[in-house]
Amino acid sequence: MKLPTRRFDALIVGAGGAGMRASLQLAEAGLSVAVLSKVFPTRSHTVAAQGGIGASLGNMSEDSWLWHMYDTIKGSDWLGDQDAIEYMCRMAPQVVFELEHFGMPFDRNPDGTIYQRPFGGHSMNFGEKSVRRACASADRTGHSMLHTLYQRNVRARTQFFVEWMALDLIRDQDGDVLGVTALEMETGSIMALEGKVTVLATGGAGRIFAASTNAFINTGDGLGMAARAGVPLEDMEFWQFHPTGVAGAGVLITEGVRGEGGILLNSNGERFMERYAPNLKDLASRDIVSRSMDQEIKEGRGCGPHKDYVLLKLDHLGPEVITKRLPSIREIAIKFANVDPIKEPIPVVPTIHYMMGGVPTNIHGQVVAPKNGNPNTVIDGLYAVGECACVSVHGANRLGTNSLLDLLVFGRAAGDFIVSRNLPALTHKPLPADTGDASLARLARLDSAASGESVAEVGGDLRKTMQAHCGVFRNQALLAEGVQKVTELARRVERTAIGDRSRTFNTARVEALELDNLIEVAKATIVSAEARRESRGAQARSDYPERDDANWLKHTLWYRDANRLDYKPVTLKPLSVEAFPPKARTY
Ligand code: FUM
Repeated sequence: MKLPTRRFDALIVGAGGAGMRASLQLAEAGLSVAVLSKVFPTRSHTVAAQGGIGASLGNMSEDSWLWHMYDTIKGSDWLGDQDAIEYMCRMAPQVVFELEHFGMPFDRNPDGTIYQRPFGGHSMNFGEKSVRRACASADRTGHSMLHTLYQRNVRARTQFFVEWMALDLIRDQDGDVLGVTALEMETGSIMALEGKVTVLATGGAGRIFAASTNAFINTGDGLGMAARAGVPLEDMEFWQFHPTGVAGAGVLITEGVRGEGGILLNSNGERFMERYAPNLKDLASRDIVSRSMDQEIKEGRGCGPHKDYVLLKLDHLGPEVITKRLPSIREIAIKFANVDPIKEPIPVVPTIHYMMGGVPTNIHGQVVAPKNGNPNTVIDGLYAVGECACVSVHGANRLGTNSLLDLLVFGRAAGDFIVSRNLPALTHKPLPADTGDASLARLARLDSAASGESVAEVGGDLRKTMQAHCGVFRNQALLAEGVQKVTELARRVERTAIGDRSRTFNTARVEALELDNLIEVAKATIVSAEARRESRGAQARSDYPERDDANWLKHTLWYRDANRLDYKPVTLKPLSVEAFPPKARTY
């Protein structure tokens, strides 16, 4: 069947911060740009980012991009690529000033400069003490940023395909990417969208876990598309638990609370982080704080009737700071935990928040994969930016505020690089004869299955399995059993059904198609985690408690065919400064 087609210079899949920062660069350069999004752009998950954007502006305490770079490498447990990290930290002030000039409403200091707050793992003078580096718009930084980027894109005439879900990459026999197939969610019609370049900007995939700060739309669509097209996924074992999700609800409570002076307490009323991180305490990196909280709970010092959470105390900050700097946190605590933090502490638990791994790229956003002995051969026509990409600046553990920074820096970098390729002078390559066949076959299976397993049930079991077998602490038995269970779940995904087509909404098809992506992300995660026999950053193994640089200072690559794993070296050489060699990590 020949699909209807539309042609653009550039296609962007995803309208979060990364997608819209890239599209802005392209549209302002006069290219024809289509952005596909499952939701209205300002509802993309970037809107939920709270605490700030990391940049060494030095507005409120002395700072330097080199300190930021060191903190990011240390935070990554030395798995981050030092060339990409240098690039990101050097670019940080520029991308923040650009946003300011776009009209983003940052909080201000009395002298008019951007307000900055401390955040976990960010320090002065290579770990000496905490630094104010997070550029904030109250506790709604992502909201302000996303609206600013959307407005600029409208002005630049970016074309948005709202409530469209990308299904599969179109690759020709040379392996070049020529666009995507996509589903219009309202009508159910399928189209081939041709692009001289395709940029994946689909965000995270936190919905593979039961307790997550992620929106329901975070289903790893770009990763599923890449994996099905034969592209490996990098470092998928590294998932960040944010220390402070509301217990029982999973909603994010920004690290900015601790940045403003909030502290974590156990059931003895003890500020336990003083024991685990004597220097930065509650503002140690997230992997350390989450592990410490888990330890407190496991050792019986959790709070509440089931002793299964700890408390985040902020009443000592006073009503003025809370209402001015943390207004949404107060609202969230009242709505989801039934406590007013002006008077009482918030019950919190470590909650899945961010995927450090993703589709492997270089600093221009070009997707790379090993070929003929070169681990970083570029796939023509395909780019990835933001959380779905692994460039890799976060390594084994991301520092708070570096996600908004990553999407701005690399969204912009990919845009600039694509502009430099002079797309209007290039012609579209012809689409292969089998374009759309794989997507149509997936839909035909769903539409024709008279009976089968419920998508919601299989998805629920997947989330429970990942939560139980791939949590804060992992070990061989748990992971090996998890691999088996996820393999069985993959079989069940192929047996799902959505019922009588004439009586179901397209949203049921969308949920089934999302499950196709979630299962790829879950397989990649648990297979990579089982294989990595060490503890590093967010991969904490009770059976291999030490970091093992001799054997494991390398990136994992997972391939969908036969769950195959490969590895590639970490880049320890920065672009222009001396390398920071691996050393023990203390806070
Ligand atoms: O805690 C937060 O506000 C989250 C920030 C981040 O993940 O970078």
